[in-house]
Amino acid sequence: MASTPAPLLHEQAYIDGQWTSAASGRTFPVKDPANDALIGRVPDMDAADVTRAIEAAHAAFPAWSTALAADRAAILKRWHAAVTAHGRELAEIMTRECGKPLAESIGEVRYGASFIDWSAEQARRVNGEIIPTDQRSRRLLVLRQPVGVVAAITPWNFPLSMITRKVSPALAAGCTVVLKPAELTPFTALALAQLAEEAGLPAGVLNLVTTTDAKRVGGVMSTHPLVRKVTFTGSTAVGKLLMAQAAGTVKKISLELGGNAPFLVFDDADIDAAVEGAIASKFRNSGQTCVCANRVLVQEGIAEAFIPRFTAAVERLKVAPGLEEGAQVGPMIDDKGVAKVMRLLQDAIAHGAQVATGGKAHALGGRFIEPTVLTGVTQAMACTREEIFGPVAPVQTFRTEAEGIALANDTVFGLAAYFYARDSARIWRVGEALEYGMVGINTGLISTAVAPFGGVKESGIGREGSTHALEEFTEMKYLSLAGLG
Ligand code: SIN
Repeated sequence: MASTPAPLLHEQAYIDGQWTSAASGRTFPVKDPANDALIGRVPDMDAADVTRAIEAAHAAFPAWSTALAADRAAILKRWHAAVTAHGRELAEIMTRECGKPLAESIGEVRYGASFIDWSAEQARRVNGEIIPTDQRSRRLLVLRQPVGVVAAITPWNFPLSMITRKVSPALAAGCTVVLKPAELTPFTALALAQLAEEAGLPAGVLNLVTTTDAKRVGGVMSTHPLVRKVTFTGSTAVGKLLMAQAAGTVKKISLELGGNAPFLVFDDADIDAAVEGAIASKFRNSGQTCVCANRVLVQEGIAEAFIPRFTAAVERLKVAPGLEEGAQVGPMIDDKGVAKVMRLLQDAIAHGAQVATGGKAHALGGRFIEPTVLTGVTQAMACTREEIFGPVAPVQTFRTEAEGIALANDTVFGLAAYFYARDSARIWRVGEALEYGMVGINTGLISTAVAPFGGVKESGIGREGSTHALEEFTEMKYLSLAGLG
């Protein structure tokens, strides 16, 4: 990584305040998905390493959990300042390991840093309650205490912000953390850990384990008795497994899982705004985002006007390696991702979908796919049920508002939904009827540290961000103080 100053590129994991190798000495390579160039190697840790990390987090918990909230907040504020100051280097590392366009990585550093800042502020607002008593001789109080050691497992598609969205509220609440970043994107995580160390985070409070054996290491994280909370962002299949494993020791759990976001355009929508919103929502991170529009549902009365304008906007997107000037759509993260998108494309075409633009591998080769619009899409096609996770926009039409809502809700997922409309009564009706944890109305971008992020149905449990963020990392303790006369 010639343009990245070496100090932020760590090839060791971080346990108990020490930069460390795997006990086995094994390492694994991390490559740029745009060209397979080697970025570096990191330790390939196993059950013994992650157990050491959990024990370190457990040992650090008494001092960290009883530190003054203001002192925890001050360290988080310094971490925020360091992340902001190193924004460009972090963004370059991120683009190299996950392929997203540099402009998006720079945006993600800002977005990710905002969770640290927000959590620092919230650290001092973990208030308890005093309940009006039911007996003259006693008083009833509720404390909110940190839950204990937190196991955080994060994905490759947002290598920085999914870490700060979990780790900073956990630390603010007084928890200690063992973090396992995705195998494909460990360098952003390691750089974040270095900046946390420089900000004064004590040894053992944040531990970072890199591995290719997510199954084994995640198994230890979700079953170890010293871990009291598991927080995970990733696929619904893995989320279900972690939930089942965590049940053995009844851990608290937060899951941000898959989505199948509908993007509805009603007859009364502002077409230009809807096109802009659909591009922003669908093609963010080349479509590899849990909250990406997965299906575009257009009401018949506006379809003829919307589809050509949307298709023309998709055709203007610049496909290029993430570090190239003006890149808007980068490569898929890996060959598995490419194969899935291609399978869904072929299935849709075989079931009668028409390709309005794109529809095949990009001339750049490798993991680049042409930004694609499919029309004539029906519920018979797998792309309406599965998360595409690529730059393909299937367009379906519907007749009535009720039909649009029914199509939108016809999924086991319930993370994000979007719709464009102008009529205020419709806005309320549709907003209330969509079975999703988050609904973007006349916007394709909804994510912010100050609002609750999370899904319903098989899209997850719990919320991240907002004033509720720290609740997920605390337990309520009821004190009944009797004998007061
Ligand atoms: C995700 O795709 O999981 C996160 C997207 C976001 O925070 O906006």
